[in-house]
Amino acid sequence: MSRLDSFIRRMTSQKILLEYLVDKVNEVDGPVLELGLGNGRTYDHLREIYPAKEIFVFDLAMNCHPSCAPDAEHMILGDIRDTLAFCGPRVGARASFAHIDIGSADPTNDLAIVDWLEPLVNERMAVGGYVLTALELHLSNFESLEKPEGIHQGRYHIYRKAAEV
Ligand SMILES: C[S@@+](CC[C@H](N)C(=O)[O-])C[C@H]1O[C@@H](n2cnc3c(N)ncnc32)[C@H](O)[C@@H]1O
Repeated sequence: MSRLDSFIRRMTSQKILLEYLVDKVNEVDGPVLELGLGNGRTYDHLREIYPAKEIFVFDLAMNCHPSCAPDAEHMILGDIRDTLAFCGPRVGARASFAHIDIGSADPTNDLAIVDWLEPLVNERMAVGGYVLTALELHLSNFESLEKPEGIHQGRYHIYRKAAEV
């Protein structure tokens, strides 16, 4: 498969999965967290499909297209390893949904990210809340959910926080 085909498949899966979760996420109280603003593609989509949810966006810097820049209150700048741990006073309620789009292309680096990310995600998610990520998480109080048909099995993961530990 060419890199173009692979890119198209990845973006298509991301859109299908984001939309697949909307009704489920809307049954849970709490804001949406976008980990990794990048150029703002998925943030822009999230604000379209979650008009009633507050969305907080995390990244080292704001490098998105100007048309989809979050406002200052909702753009949390800095290393997520620090900011996710200390965002409670600003974000308030625990999250109904976290879209985590910060994986690297390197499997060893991804393991290192998962190591610091897991406890922070657990802390910030509401019970019943959903996580969509390409990173494989191993949180004992989260269940792994089936993906809709047509989504490549290994590529994305959907988790739901089943209980507090
Ligand atoms: C793949 S891009 C996100 C793409 C974005 N969701 C979109 O659709 O345009 C990953 C982003 O995560 C950010 N990122 C990765 N690791 C981070 C960290 N530890 N702290 C803050 N931002 C991080 C990078 O700066 C980059 O902008």
